[in-house]
Amino acid sequence: MQKLRIAVAGAGLIGREHCTLITSHPGAVIAGIADPAPEAQALAESLGVPHFGDLETMLDAVRPDGAIVALPTGLHKSAALSCIGRGIPSLVEKPVAATLADAFEMARASEASGIPILVGHHRRHSADIREARRVVQSGKLGRIVTVNGMAWVDKPDRYFDVAWRREPGGGTLLINLIHDVDCLRFILGEIRRVGAFVSNDVRGLDVEDTASVSFEFDSGVLGSFTISDAVASPYSWERTSGQALYFPHQPENYLFIGGRDGALEVPTMEYWHHGPEGGDWQADLTRETLPLDGTQTYDNQLAHFLQVIAGNEPPVIDAADAARTLAVILAVKRAAAEARTVDIAEMLEGLQDSGAP
Ligand SMILES: NC(=O)c1ccc[n+]([C@@H]2O[C@H](COP(=O)([O-])OP(=O)(O)OC[C@H]3O[C@@H](n4cnc5c(N)ncnc54)[C@H](O)[C@@H]3O)[C@@H](O)[C@H]2O)c1
Repeated sequence: MQKLRIAVAGAGLIGREHCTLITSHPGAVIAGIADPAPEAQALAESLGVPHFGDLETMLDAVRPDGAIVALPTGLHKSAALSCIGRGIPSLVEKPVAATLADAFEMARASEASGIPILVGHHRRHSADIREARRVVQSGKLGRIVTVNGMAWVDKPDRYFDVAWRREPGGGTLLINLIHDVDCLRFILGEIRRVGAFVSNDVRGLDVEDTASVSFEFDSGVLGSFTISDAVASPYSWERTSGQALYFPHQPENYLFIGGRDGALEVPTMEYWHHGPEGGDWQADLTRETLPLDGTQTYDNQLAHFLQVIAGNEPPVIDAADAARTLAVILAVKRAAAEARTVDIAEMLEGLQDSGAP
């Protein structure tokens, strides 16, 4: 079988990981790397692939089957449009774009041209998240009542040596919480309204390091999530799932889903329920561990992208869908800044005619 030729734009933290994933995949090969940094040139040389200073030159020179856009978020829109203009499907890292207007412009261009954009919300391909969604949709937990989650990690100070991570848009909400929000939407459906407290007290940077968020879903589910990039703890999907690329695996849980008939812990997939005889708060609960398929999320994402390129599957998350995840994060920021609850509909106002579903 002919290997699909994938170009990679941006060979920083995540772009390098994409390169490793492509080189280990039997169905793909790196067509070229575009990134002006000397380290990127050295990487391209070490992999024996062509190196370019910018995306457009690379696309015109190597005519890849697909492109991965792992550039700073502010460059996602122009990169995605460059790919679409050349008929090249792209996998654009998350957040889909820096603004909702950009995100919906990408969605519109993709829809009008028929050239797909897959957004890099990789956890949608993870066995635990897929299983949590399946369990919720199966009715096993009964009517879902509530959800609670955590993403508590301790980023090293050197992480913030990269300028864009210290600048507006570079805080833990747009970099990290966006993954958790996307999982919540994927598992439990649309979020209607948010309230939030956000703080930068611990690191003292311009960007936030810690937040506490409350969610109301369209279904009526009420949830909460706390996040911090300044806490030494095992409680994040990255560490607990064993699926993230550059984190040790420490089995624990980061997400708890509660329904009338049972509760689920993710990612250990402990399923608590009363069993066929029923019971209430003073009766013993049965604990079952639901099996996972053992696959790895980034491998699954790349395999899916290859299917998207081949035209065999629509993107699991396209630009319009990812724009809704972005809208929730921007609503969290607005809720905290204005000390009020914010409807997601308010964030989407004026954008509904421009690509929003
Ligand atoms: N899905 C994930 O797990 C995940 C993880 C980390 C980052 N991300 C996302 O990926 C994107 C990149 O993040 P990162 O942490 O890898 O950033 P980074 O700063 O480590 O890397 C970005 C790279 O882009 C290069 N670059 C900058 N401008 C360029 C241009 N005009 N043309 C070509 N190359 C250019 C830089 O030299 C750098 O090497 C962000 O949107 C981020 O949110 C996703």
